[in-house]
Amino acid sequence: MNMKGIVLAGGSGTRLHPITLASSKQLLPVYDKPMIYYPLTVLMLAGIRDILIISTPADLPQFRRLLGDGHSLGLHFTYAEQARPEGIAQAFLIADEWLAGQPCALVLGDNLIFGEDLSAVFRAAAVRPEGATVFAYQVRDPERYGVVQFGETGEVVDILEKPVAPPSPWAVTGLYFYDARVTEFARAVKPSPRGELEITDLNRMYLEEGSLHVERLGRGCAWLDAGTPDSLLQAASFVQTIQTRQGMLVGCPEEVAYRMGFIDADMLHSHARRLGKTELGRLLRDVANGVHA
Ligand code: G1P
Repeated sequence: MNMKGIVLAGGSGTRLHPITLASSKQLLPVYDKPMIYYPLTVLMLAGIRDILIISTPADLPQFRRLLGDGHSLGLHFTYAEQARPEGIAQAFLIADEWLAGQPCALVLGDNLIFGEDLSAVFRAAAVRPEGATVFAYQVRDPERYGVVQFGETGEVVDILEKPVAPPSPWAVTGLYFYDARVTEFARAVKPSPRGELEITDLNRMYLEEGSLHVERLGRGCAWLDAGTPDSLLQAASFVQTIQTRQGMLVGCPEEVAYRMGFIDADMLHSHARRLGKTELGRLLRDVANGVHA
């Protein structure tokens, strides 16, 4: 079964008000690209080509305008509305019919994950036949996230959503891979005290049946979210640093489509032409001409 993918780009972005009062958080620029490009490329690196974009009724038309039907990237995009921000796990209820019982990855529209050989790690998670895979990353402010609690021998004991006293510095990133039972599990999630269907509760169901894989992302990996003014700025400077120093692209769907074999060099050249004289266009031309490894 081919894994499908969801980018959840809903919510009201309250931590970025007033920037997000009139525009979608996931369309804000992270250096030289719209934010959603970064999580989108993560799904592509996992080999996923059939992708559902979920956003609010007000913002969805703009995502369509930006991304279209996906054919120029060798992808297939479908769009769906999340009428109210009622939790991340609700994505699977919205996607139920589209999913048609297939396994599915979900990535949050404000997450940026970058690192050496991550494509292999993601692809391994995508072909795992049973259970769920989540990724843990050490941060200084775990109380902002889902947090992994480890036992004495390093086994995962629990996952806690935004705990006041975090049991470890290991935050759960916004990238999740699930087997074909995910909608069934999602239907069993009850709203939390803040009225949301928590992704952490869904992950805990897999944990309880012993089929949750927690992969630690170590040194050499960057996980950034762009949900606050500071993290938005940090993400932008990170991308700027890598791209201007090394000439390597971060979060560029056209490049990833080419490297994954979804499109050919001619199509990549035509994307580069469309971007005109921008630096991004120049970097894409370099990739099409084989300048960068
Ligand atoms: C959500 C999840 C949390 C996860 C985080 C990753 O938090 O609830 O478990 O660690 O995404 O970005 P939110 O962005 O809704 O605060």
